Amino acid sequence: MPCVSGAHQSNGKRMESTRALLSLWVLTVLFFDSAQADEAPENISPKPELSHLQRAVLCSHSNTTFTNWSSEQRAALLSSVSRLAQCLHSQQLRDCDEVEPQKCPAADAPENGGVLCVALNNRRFCKPMCNHGFDFGFLRQSRLFDECSDKTEYRWDSQYVGGNTLALCIRASVTVSGAKSAYFPKEQDCLQTKANSTLSSALKEQFIRELEERGHQGELQRACLVCGLTR
Ligand SMILES: *[C@@H]1O[C@H](CO)[C@@H](O)[C@H](O)[C@H]1NC(C)=O
Ligand SMILES: *[C@@H]1O[C@H](CO)[C@@H](O)[C@H](O)[C@H]1NC(C)=O
Repeated sequence: MPCVSGAHQSNGKRMESTRALLSLWVLTVLFFDSAQADEAPENISPKPELSHLQRAVLCSHSNTTFTNWSSEQRAALLSSVSRLAQCLHSQQLRDCDEVEPQKCPAADAPENGGVLCVALNNRRFCKPMCNHGFDFGFLRQSRLFDECSDKTEYRWDSQYVGGNTLALCIRASVTVSGAKSAYFPKEQDCLQTKANSTLSSALKEQFIRELEERGHQGELQRACLVCGLTR
């Protein structure tokens, strides 16, 4: 169920997100505890941190941590965590909403990939990208990005007939359809890249260089990355 922000949030939705947050808290606290147990005292941080949740995700400690839980408790937590994932995902998808020009529809982030967007002089350029192991559904070697601006009447000038869908990422053992820079590296898929500001800045700078090389220069208004679901 998608989450709704702020004033639009109904009580039910709010309760639901509270429940999801509670689960996150449970996970965080659990992993704060197990982190405390096997770390030297000087390494203990004063409050639960995202890193403890990330350790939970690695599942190495979770095997032992959750054995005491009943199957109902584990299912309830799993259910909350998956609702939380949907909630975070729908918020994550909106990270390009503010990109100029506002009249342009948002480019859809392909599943198993993402879309990197840059606004220059009121023209929006978006570059679809695929995660490692996925390839574009059709050849776009020479077509790195699509444009939406007054020139395109605020529509995507995509070759793909899907309107705001600029590309699809399809599972493939060899990736040949796109330019080299249109693929995320193996160990850094779209979300991992987005979560790391060093990596995402480098990605945005590379795209800005690619735009420059193709004659698109000007005042940088915004750059953003949204990631599609991973399946
Ligand atoms: C796990 O279960 C055992 C036996 O049911 C109990 O003695 C122990 O306190 C439990 N551990 C936790 C962390 O709840
Ligand atoms: C970001 O990625 C770089 C390159 O892979 C890595 O060296 C760095 O530790 C990462 N930073 C964080 C906060 O994960």
